[in-house]
Amino acid sequence: MRKKAPPMSVTAKFQDNANICIIDHPLVTHKLSFLRQKSTGSKEFRALVEEIAALMAYEATRDLPIGEEPIETPLEKATGHFISGKKLGVVPILRAGLGMLEGILRLIPNAKVGHVGLYRNEQTLEPVEYFCKLPDDLPERDILLLDPMLATGGSAVAAIKLLEKKGAKAEQIRFLCLLASPEGLQRLSEAYPQVSIYTAAVDKCLDENGYIRPGLGDAGDRIFGTV
Ligand code: PRP
Ligand code: URA
Repeated sequence: MRKKAPPMSVTAKFQDNANICIIDHPLVTHKLSFLRQKSTGSKEFRALVEEIAALMAYEATRDLPIGEEPIETPLEKATGHFISGKKLGVVPILRAGLGMLEGILRLIPNAKVGHVGLYRNEQTLEPVEYFCKLPDDLPERDILLLDPMLATGGSAVAAIKLLEKKGAKAEQIRFLCLLASPEGLQRLSEAYPQVSIYTAAVDKCLDENGYIRPGLGDAGDRIFGTV
């Protein structure tokens, strides 16, 4: 029988929220621990972010509707089951969200991609918008919004506001992150209870500089080697 690590109390606090999915899978947990290590260099870090994002996409798309269509195998007519319903859009929050994009597109290659550019002001920790380019048919799509880090939650909330301005509804949005702080989860789920949140882990707390502890440091800098 598989031995399960006891859930951390912060994890337990959010586990019963129907809109928050904490991905509890040994492959994800294992890769995340390499990501956290300061000795992991940019090349390996990028590869791990991509791999974890792909594993998360598997979980975050679990409830997509399936429709039946007739198919023919080499042997006989049969019924095929294909994803039906809305098409998908993927929106990475620049910069660090870009690190997750390829992993997601590997599984969902036909998704349209939008970009939202935000950076945190280091003093106020408030997000500053510098770019926004989204598909015109965004309201007709289910949206995977990507950012490895949910810290104060300010960037995620600001990005969702931009998606709403383009006509998207909160219930169409799934937010995927690798690490969440309890504070960020609380803020995002209160601001947007209709948004489904997927995270690979919930960490202990935010520090006085708005960093997730124990965390993994600055995700963007580690992905792009700008430390
Ligand atoms: C990081 C991260 C999130 C944001 C999270 O981005 O990728 O976008 O901080 O923090 P929040 O929840 O407190 O808003 P950063 O501003 O460092 O920009 P970068 O991705 O360009 O490095
Ligand atoms: N952004 C990061 O990249 N890391 C943190 O810990 C918090 C915000």
